[in-house]
Amino acid sequence: MLCSHSHVSRFQAFIFLLAAAEGASAALVPWHASVVSRQEAGNNTYDFIIAGGGIAGLTVADRLTEDPSVSVLVVEAGPFDQREESVLIPGAYPPFQYFNGLESVPQEALGNRSVGTICAKVVGGGSVVNAMVYLRYAGYLIRRWSEGENFTKPDGDFAARANISWDDSVRGTSGPVKYSYPDYFYPGSANWWNAAKSIGLPIVKDPEAGNNLGIFWTPSVLDATTMTRSDARLNHYENIKVSRSNYHILASTTVSKVIFNGTRAMGVEYLASGGGDTAQVYATKEVILAAGGVHTPQILQLSGIGPQALLNDLGIAVIQDLPGVGQNLQDQSTLTIPWTFTSNVTPNSGSLDSNATYNAEQRGLYDTERTGAYTIVRSLSTNIGQLSLRLVTDDYAAIAAEARSRDPAASLPSDVDPTVLEGYKKQRELIIRQFEGQDAAVGTLHWGTSSSSLIYHLKPLSRGTVNINSTDPLASPVLDYRTATDPIDLAIYVALFRKNRELFAAPDMAALGPAEASPFGAQVRTDEEIIAVLRQQINPSNAHQCCTAAMLPRNLGGVVDSEWNVHGVEGLRVADTSYWPFQTSGAPTATTYASGEKLADVIKRDYNLTSL
Ligand SMILES: Cc1cc2nc3c(=O)[nH]c(=O)nc-3n(C[C@H](O)[C@H](O)[C@H](O)COP(=O)(O)OP(=O)(O)OC[C@H]3O[C@@H](n4cnc5c(N)ncnc54)[C@H](O)[C@@H]3O)c2cc1C
Ligand SMILES: *[C@@H]1O[C@H](CO)[C@@H](O)[C@H](O)[C@H]1NC(C)=O
Ligand SMILES: *[C@@H]1O[C@H](CO)[C@@H](O)[C@H](O)[C@H]1NC(C)=O
Ligand SMILES: *[C@@H]1O[C@H](CO)[C@@H](O)[C@H](O)[C@H]1NC(C)=O
Ligand SMILES: *[C@@H]1O[C@H](CO)[C@@H](O)[C@H](O)[C@H]1NC(C)=O
Ligand SMILES: *[C@@H]1O[C@H](CO)[C@@H](O)[C@H](O)[C@H]1NC(C)=O
Ligand SMILES: *[C@@H]1O[C@H](CO)[C@@H](O)[C@H](O)[C@H]1NC(C)=O
Ligand SMILES: *[C@@H]1O[C@H](CO)[C@@H](O)[C@H](O)[C@H]1NC(C)=O
Ligand SMILES: *[C@@H]1O[C@H](CO)[C@@H](O)[C@H](O)[C@H]1NC(C)=O
Repeated sequence: MLCSHSHVSRFQAFIFLLAAAEGASAALVPWHASVVSRQEAGNNTYDFIIAGGGIAGLTVADRLTEDPSVSVLVVEAGPFDQREESVLIPGAYPPFQYFNGLESVPQEALGNRSVGTICAKVVGGGSVVNAMVYLRYAGYLIRRWSEGENFTKPDGDFAARANISWDDSVRGTSGPVKYSYPDYFYPGSANWWNAAKSIGLPIVKDPEAGNNLGIFWTPSVLDATTMTRSDARLNHYENIKVSRSNYHILASTTVSKVIFNGTRAMGVEYLASGGGDTAQVYATKEVILAAGGVHTPQILQLSGIGPQALLNDLGIAVIQDLPGVGQNLQDQSTLTIPWTFTSNVTPNSGSLDSNATYNAEQRGLYDTERTGAYTIVRSLSTNIGQLSLRLVTDDYAAIAAEARSRDPAASLPSDVDPTVLEGYKKQRELIIRQFEGQDAAVGTLHWGTSSSSLIYHLKPLSRGTVNINSTDPLASPVLDYRTATDPIDLAIYVALFRKNRELFAAPDMAALGPAEASPFGAQVRTDEEIIAVLRQQINPSNAHQCCTAAMLPRNLGGVVDSEWNVHGVEGLRVADTSYWPFQTSGAPTATTYASGEKLADVIKRDYNLTSL
């Protein structure tokens, strides 16, 4: 989840990375306690090398290094953060300096807009910069979820007053990933909650229990003892590093390619993220890619694994022709709807910015007692609604039928590989069944309690691409989200938009005197009028990029098999959100942690490794 006010300052990020890269090369750390320099890494051979130290990468590294006989090197493009307030304190969000900004190509269904989008670039990846929403999706993998997490209950009286509910039996309390809830809410969140109830949205007892359809407080990746962020750097590295001389991180360093001997992955080539000479480091067992949904396909393509024609055009020797690499790109696009109010209640999430007295009071409360508005991620509120298509519109069956009647090929680029098309057909049918069913959310509604509401589109049928157009590993790949190129996505957006209007028109919200502001407004009425504004306003990315190295059979355009091995080569797996075939109806963080645990189990089984 992104805040509505987020902007990327590439300049800021660039300056910061340069400074951090210099700092890292100056520090020489011995062979223990784990931050290694380029020299030390280059002179070691590791059992496993992990490219990318984000949520998936650090989860797998932690679990593999439980066996003291195993050595692991994580190579991470970003620096260690400096534990800034914008990282740690929810109310001081966001830490722009660890955002890696990437511009999309013009989006044909969005008025040919090029849109700035974000990936994390820091040790800990998205978990260091994200909006802390911790939300599982469907009912499976739950065992691994509860083992990996440590939920702290809110105070009972507060929970009752705030309408926070949960089911103890599904929430883990002994794992490393801490989560809880803010201990404060803006009064307007009750208006939203009561309005949502009055239009028929059910109250979800526990969104982590396998069904998250309805309204609930969003669990937040907070350490409840300090009310600070619990990120992967802390929970899968910092808290264990003293006892693990076998767990190394090489920060501010970009993996440029996987090195092969024939079809066996032997190690990686890397260079300082600020530029410079390349060096190699070798893995005796496996290389694991965890560079995220945008950069894992980039590394694969740079390594000679991808669509053959693309590799040939760039003069890259083909190790394996895998047409699915970089295809099937999905995100969960967002729509920000501006509102004015004649009588909104204060304080609200805007008050931290507009009322210096209130801001000082709340910051004081946070600093002294770890309580108040600063326990909430800035600009957000505390509750959301997750809606199945049935909860959004009575026309759900007609929308599903229309989706089924369309030619799936029309939703993909015209030069799509036939195997990728076959895989998409399977996905499409599964997603259409979700449209007809009662299990999966297609959208999220949120009101930050101030001047905008948000809609997230969770289950797109449109598919984009991420392809390299250069052999320079420090160049960004070409990002084409192709958002809303499938018109069914717009039909679902229109329904979500109308549902949001219905919610704001319900008495509990109407009491605040809301009026949709430009470019929306009462004059925007017909589906066509709404769609025209949507094309101008949809943001293609919520930084939930996935699915660009999908876990599917090879004849369905897949890139990895069901044990995360890249098809056609040995010693190479993909751990991050790239391997998902399609988006979940949660937010990615919880699933990425849980599937990292699962993958580590599989690798430990394969090599007879021990666990703690
Ligand atoms: C601003 C923002 C807000 C978000 N809000 C939420 C939220 O509230 N809730 C939620 O569930 N999800 C949220 N997300 C999404 C979530 O954080 C990601 O989906 C998740 O981090 C994905 O995990 P991953 O392991 O696949 O990749 P990441 O955590 O992104 O890790 C990938 C890492 O690989 C590194 N890397 C990239 N290329 C290379 C290379 N060539 N060599 C070495 N390293 C490389 C990157 O620097 C990065 O650190 C948000 C994301 C962002 C950016
Ligand atoms: C290995 O160590 C030597 C001596 O410290 C150094 O000169 C060399 O550059 C290192 N190798 C790599 C690949 O970093
Ligand atoms: C977008 O660009 C394409 C190709 O240049 C063009 O055909 C199309 O008309 C443009 N669409 C809009 C809405 O401007
Ligand atoms: C779980 O988190 C709480 C709050 O930070 C902490 O007090 C407790 O020790 C943690 N439990 C475990 C097993 O780590
Ligand atoms: C909680 O629910 C009660 C009962 O429906 C309602 O009166 C109250 O306003 C709600 N409060 C919040 C913060 O949602
Ligand atoms: C590459 O693989 C071949 C065949 O397995 C082996 O003989 C050779 O030693 C390997 N080369 C390297 C550099 O490991
Ligand atoms: C600003 O915040 C203070 C402290 O909470 C409050 O007393 C005051 O009424 C607020 N002012 C406005 C204009 O909302
Ligand atoms: C690659 O594509 C980007 C647009 O995404 C463009 O700015 C850049 O110039 C292209 N690079 C090459 C080498 O073609
Ligand atoms: C793991 O153990 C099994 C059973 O003891 C053995 O057959 C297998 O070869 C071992 N695998 C590895 C990689 O050591």
